[in-house]
Amino acid sequence: MTPNERIEMTDPAHPIFAKLYDPVMKPAERTVLTEHRRYLVDNLSGMVLDLGAGTGAMFPYFREAAADSGTVTLFAIEPDPHMRRKALERARDLGLEIEIENAGAEALPFADDSFDIVIASLVFCTIPDFDVALSEVARVLKPGGEFRFLEHVRGEGAVGIAHDVLAPAWHTLAGGCHLNRETDDIFRDDDRFELVDYTRLEDIPRIVPIVRGTLERRREDSVISRLVGAGKTGK
Ligand SMILES: C[S@@+](CC[C@H](N)C(=O)[O-])C[C@H]1O[C@@H](n2cnc3c(N)ncnc32)[C@H](O)[C@@H]1O
Repeated sequence: MTPNERIEMTDPAHPIFAKLYDPVMKPAERTVLTEHRRYLVDNLSGMVLDLGAGTGAMFPYFREAAADSGTVTLFAIEPDPHMRRKALERARDLGLEIEIENAGAEALPFADDSFDIVIASLVFCTIPDFDVALSEVARVLKPGGEFRFLEHVRGEGAVGIAHDVLAPAWHTLAGGCHLNRETDDIFRDDDRFELVDYTRLEDIPRIVPIVRGTLERRREDSVISRLVGAGKTGK
């Protein structure tokens, strides 16, 4: 863990980032992101968790989806108090029923097997301890539940090298975001999930590569049999 990450875990507040987030994101939200945020809420039903809700960018989509389905119970977590305040305001303005908890993804305040769907939009780039956070997603998802993601990732070739160079400054300016994290590899390599859908988006400029997809939480017995097959149990 780097010193920066230690500071993040004790103080997740980034007031300037929270203030600038919506105005800076507005052009992308209106153009390329709409379709992909809709992907995250497709056929939404049951218990749903929005990880790192930020200012509530997913909330208008939740409202649409909840109106269509009528069987959605919404929760969110957001550790930054400035972001959380904006999310609460947005939920109120939309008339959206959603419980927003003050928590980080590394310690979700929910029981095992609570959720049908967990959603991460542009958030695993920022979570300091993404391994622990992914374990928490696996813990709170019901077996067969879905983890849906929309994340920016490290670029390929020269773009990736540029991301590596810019990453330290970006981390400071962008609320702790890791510009060059290979989040998609972390997701795809995790044995607790089955990859059911994965796309590297083509409609987004290559300078900010974005991936979207869905992982399904495996049932415990299928995880154990895979690990035994791969000789990973230590027996
Ligand atoms: C780039 S913003 C994305 C917000 C929103 N999901 C969206 O799609 O616009 C990243 C968010 O992750 C939050 N965050 C930071 N550390 C976190 C953690 N440990 N667990 C969950 N969220 C975290 C930040 O406060 C911020 O609101």
